[in-house]
Amino acid sequence: FCRVVRVEVGHLSCKIESLSGQDRPKVAFSAGLTNSGKVGPFNTETQLIYTKVFTNVGNTYNPNTGIFTAPVRGVYYFRFSMVSYETALLGGLNMYRNGQRILHNGQYYNAGNEYVCNGVTLHLQKGDTVYMRLPNGWAVYDDDSNHSTFSGFLLFPM
Ligand SMILES: *[C@@H]1O[C@H](CO)[C@@H](O)[C@H](O)[C@H]1NC(C)=O
Repeated sequence: FCRVVRVEVGHLSCKIESLSGQDRPKVAFSAGLTNSGKVGPFNTETQLIYTKVFTNVGNTYNPNTGIFTAPVRGVYYFRFSMVSYETALLGGLNMYRNGQRILHNGQYYNAGNEYVCNGVTLHLQKGDTVYMRLPNGWAVYDDDSNHSTFSGFLLFPM
């Protein structure tokens, strides 16, 4: 659909702007962590780099750094899933917006590999970053079954 952005009554002319076509950026990514098994534990909080890119429309997710960068101001949805490693005491991770942590989710290992999943809707400014970090002393697991993923997409510019 479109909306009228300028109407000149005297000249009976009308300019329209498309909201669903090329003017609206297409942003969606999804990536799996690794095929190599256990990640962590480390002595310091560590950036998680999801290297298995499933989708990266708009090229907003950087698979070398693990960082998503918002190309426009808007409302975005992000989610992750992760599985804990069976011999690690704690499995979980942190999500950050710019330098600020926005969630810290995890669990004690008890009965085997267990999943932690969550999602969050964020109003981002252009250039804001969103990324996942592994808390100090914690571990996560992934292999070619794609247990641990990080995904996000633009709901609408705003
Ligand atoms: C994991 O993801 C890759 C890439 O999409 C896919 O080829 C593979 O089949 C997936 N693994 C499983 C077990 O589904």
